[in-house]
Amino acid sequence: MPRPRRPASRRPALRARRPAPSTVGRAKPVVLRGRPRARRWEDDLVSLHHGDALDLYASWPAPAAIVSDGAYGVLGFDGDTSDHLDVPAWYEPHAAAWARAATPATTLWFWNSEIGWAAAHPVLERHGWRYVACNVWNKGRGHVAGNVNTGSIRRFPVVTEVCVQYVRAPVAPDGAPLKAWLLSEWRRTGLPLREANAACGVKDAAVRKYLDQSHLWYFPPPEAMARLAAHANAHGRPEGRPYFALDGAPATAEAWAAMRARFRCPFGVTNVWDRAPVAGPERVRAPGGRAVHLNQKPLDLLERIIQASTDPGEVVWEPFGGLFTAALAARRLGRRAFAAELDPTYFRFGVARAAGTPLRSRGG
Ligand SMILES: C[S@@+](CC[C@H](N)C(=O)[O-])C[C@H]1O[C@@H](n2cnc3c(N)ncnc32)[C@H](O)[C@@H]1O
Repeated sequence: MPRPRRPASRRPALRARRPAPSTVGRAKPVVLRGRPRARRWEDDLVSLHHGDALDLYASWPAPAAIVSDGAYGVLGFDGDTSDHLDVPAWYEPHAAAWARAATPATTLWFWNSEIGWAAAHPVLERHGWRYVACNVWNKGRGHVAGNVNTGSIRRFPVVTEVCVQYVRAPVAPDGAPLKAWLLSEWRRTGLPLREANAACGVKDAAVRKYLDQSHLWYFPPPEAMARLAAHANAHGRPEGRPYFALDGAPATAEAWAAMRARFRCPFGVTNVWDRAPVAGPERVRAPGGRAVHLNQKPLDLLERIIQASTDPGEVVWEPFGGLFTAALAARRLGRRAFAAELDPTYFRFGVARAAGTPLRSRGG
């Protein structure tokens, strides 16, 4: 028999969502007294800002790569969330701002825990970030040795983080999907489809790949694209010119190459990165010997992703700087970096690290 309905006034109020979790980070190893002397430190290649990245993005030049190492849902720093459920809202304004600043050639490297990334992924996708690959940083057994009571945590000890590669979805100058634009531009020329093969100097790859509209579509290599554009503009219907125009002129190999993110892989590197956590002289420590930031990333891993996705002189963003590891890796590789850090203590230690003048005293 159905239970009688209680009057509305006596029904428990439906909670739209659980109360906001704590965002106070786990105890910070070191806190400096006072404020940073200046809100910005820079040299020829890096520009480090004390402040909220959201207030700074509009003043930074367009990035070739964005290295995100923000909220993990583990209370890793003041402002991190206490679990993954609030991670999507945390990243929402950042993902939107990154999308506004990105060019077709921008790569996003998104560091997180596995569940933090899983929670954030739909937000990134909604803002036009297209998943490429998930790289796993395996810190090894040393990361947990002697430190874990598996009987009480009731799971296998976690020794990994992920660094996920995203690019922009390929779109044409008119906003159409790139593959649709390629075919419609060729059709506008009035030339037969098969002539595209000869134009590109390939047996059948132009028709089978570059102009294909299925999952077999393939981004035309820059030299092939330049040949395609040159042929179309030389032999296509005169009244329709220019064809394959980027910024008003037929695509050159260089302009076409800028239509997608760069990627180069060093020999032998896979998506599993075995690398112990930061230790030894690389670890930034306060005068008493305590590690300054719990989340300091290895310089070599940051160099790996920046080298893979940018060219010298290009711009790297590090919105959640901490000790500015990505900015310093970018500088070592001759890239320009723009980074932000909210916390005054981390900012000061990060600046001292960048300047090569370690802080010697508490409050220094
Ligand atoms: C996970 S840590 C980054 C550690 C860094 N990758 C390193 O190697 O030192 C995240 C940092 O982002 C900072 N942060 C969080 N939200 C921020 C925001 N909106 N703008 C700037 N910094 C922020 C936190 O204070 C914290 O130090």
